[in-house]
Amino acid sequence: MSSASEQKANAAIAALDYVEDGMTVGLGSGSTSALFVQALGQLVREEGLKIQGVPTSADTEAIARDSGVPLVPVEHVAKIDVAVDGADEVDGRFRLIKGGGGCLLREKIIADSADLMVVMVDETKLVARLGAFPLPVEVDPFGFTLTARKVYEALRRAGVARPDVQLRRLGDGLDPFITDGGNYILDCACTEIPDPDLAAAELIDLPGVVEHGLFIDLARIVIVGEDDGARVMEL
Ligand code: A5P
Repeated sequence: MSSASEQKANAAIAALDYVEDGMTVGLGSGSTSALFVQALGQLVREEGLKIQGVPTSADTEAIARDSGVPLVPVEHVAKIDVAVDGADEVDGRFRLIKGGGGCLLREKIIADSADLMVVMVDETKLVARLGAFPLPVEVDPFGFTLTARKVYEALRRAGVARPDVQLRRLGDGLDPFITDGGNYILDCACTEIPDPDLAAAELIDLPGVVEHGLFIDLARIVIVGEDDGARVMEL
């Protein structure tokens, strides 16, 4: 296993500490979340842990079913105790870029509805400033070229020097990537986002933008996987 994979696995194991009997658990998406869901399933199967999970993507739902994690439809939950998810970047104020896998809308709905958001990352995800990872912005397919222009202008207003806004496509093909919610993703290469709070405010204001991948004031715990364990950071 590469160091990053090992660190993700160690972070996923450490995140189990935040799950208790009786909880409703938001299940994030991506490779680190997959490891967490599999480990959670093992606790359910082998130790009788009683929880119910709310998946943030079709992929996570399938992994949870395969792993034996009981699921509940999101419409049936009144509250979520803890949301456990990965991230593409984390800064010193626990602001995140998410959505590399295209699941940002559902991830944000669940994180925002949870009493606690726990984020699991390998060390490479910790950054001094957000923006080296292209910021995903989920948009309605209708008029997306017009929306892309507005996204560019909004990022410029937020101080990004030369944003490069590209429609996410499937593999090497021309077909657009479609999210679980039926939307498109615009990947915005920014190099650096000098004011993530301002960028978030500018983007969410645009008609056509369904959600953006800046997660601000949501994460309270960040678990950083290391080669031989994990360290927990609290805000
Ligand atoms: C999914 O859309 C993302 O928000 C993931 O949480 C993020 O991309 C981290 O993914 P990995 O755990 O695969 O690095």
